[in-house]
Amino acid sequence: MNKKLTLDTITSFAKRRGFVYPSSEIYGGLAGIYDYGHYGILLKNNIQAAWWKSMVFERDDIVALDSAIFTHPLTWKASGHVDSFNEALIDCKSCKQRMRADHLLEKFGINADFMPLDQINLELNKLRETGELKCQFCGNKDLTEARQINQLIRTNLGTPTKELKDLTPEEIVYARGETCQGIYLNFKNITDTMRVKLPFGICQVGKAFRNEVIARQFIFRTREFEQMEMQYFLDPEIMNEKYEEWKQVRWNWYINELGIPEEKISWKKHDKLAHYASAAFDIQYDYSCLGGFSEVEGIHQRGNWDLSQHSKVSGVNLEYFDQKNNKKFIPHIMETSVGLTRLVLMVLDNAYTEEDLGEGKSRVVLKIKPSLAPIKVAVFPLQRDDKLRESAYNLYRGLKTKFTAEFDDSGNIGKMYRRQDEIGTPFCVTVDYQSLETTW
Ligand code: GAP
Repeated sequence: MNKKLTLDTITSFAKRRGFVYPSSEIYGGLAGIYDYGHYGILLKNNIQAAWWKSMVFERDDIVALDSAIFTHPLTWKASGHVDSFNEALIDCKSCKQRMRADHLLEKFGINADFMPLDQINLELNKLRETGELKCQFCGNKDLTEARQINQLIRTNLGTPTKELKDLTPEEIVYARGETCQGIYLNFKNITDTMRVKLPFGICQVGKAFRNEVIARQFIFRTREFEQMEMQYFLDPEIMNEKYEEWKQVRWNWYINELGIPEEKISWKKHDKLAHYASAAFDIQYDYSCLGGFSEVEGIHQRGNWDLSQHSKVSGVNLEYFDQKNNKKFIPHIMETSVGLTRLVLMVLDNAYTEEDLGEGKSRVVLKIKPSLAPIKVAVFPLQRDDKLRESAYNLYRGLKTKFTAEFDDSGNIGKMYRRQDEIGTPFCVTVDYQSLETTW
């Protein structure tokens, strides 16, 4: 039976079992940044492999890309992120905690997605006047006005001759806020070199960076994270048909490839849209550790906003010539965008099970799909005995050439099984005296 899973439980489990560690911990940590340990990397790689298989290897209309984290500064001006990728934050004057204004307003049923700052402050003031606006941490009613923060993370490259604050817009380099911009910048390279024809997709996996105002939800929302994005380029005439097709493909992936029960995922339709989007649906997962459904993946119609903007600002023609229909146009884009690190939390949340052993004792079992399990097989000698050990070790070395495998000869067979149950290992092999008579 699973007790109510909390964020603290999953965070300490992930650290204790070598999945995820707080970053820079010996210096007190760095908010919203995490490091991945041995099992965390293996799990992340398995989720990623399932995504590549479904998005590229099983299809013939998608190619891969790995674009750089840094791009020309104009990328983010053209994309609209320098002007519009903002979050409004508000501080408590008593406990000094910081909150997102849209999260505060949401509690009063006000959807502040993409709301201009002056309107956010107008709504907050109405709640201030009625005495309803309070700090969500200490209950104090003295809160600052909302201020807007751009979420892009800035730096500069080359030999810095100025302080960061003195850089001109042309000198600021941004760590990418979404991986897909690198795809748009390579659209021409790919159409020129890869014999692709509309409709086709380009996908990539990589790090993205956002100055999240609050980062208190473990790896659900971090300032450095990994995205897996696919941009599908098409003639707008088939947008709606392809959009519905892709929504189904992505929904099925959660059930068939990640083993998520269908009742634990749901759709959320966005009525208010990001500056680039013309339609947006999220796939949400019912995170026990967060107390309900939250976004894992966005499926967006981006129109021809991105390619038009990059064409306009760079001066490079990004039109596509459709030979079959003899027409030239800027393709429209349908994207699927999912946080890989957010999926790691989803898979752990879904798999984490505490089994009651009676007498106040319990054990953790990670009920994970075998294809996602970090370790596929563990081998143990039944007892501390040189012959058993040697045979078990040889078996383990053989298995290791094909699977992720572990060898454990610490002696207590119950404990060795339990350790593997905790990380979701589907197969454990114990070498006993009878095994010594078997030829492997
Ligand atoms: N290119 C579109 C885009 O980036 P988004 O809705 O901002 O859209 C897509 O992000 C996905 O990236 C989200 O559904 C989520 O899984 C993941 N993501 C976004 N911000 C994140 C963060 N701060 N930490 C972890 N994952 C994040």
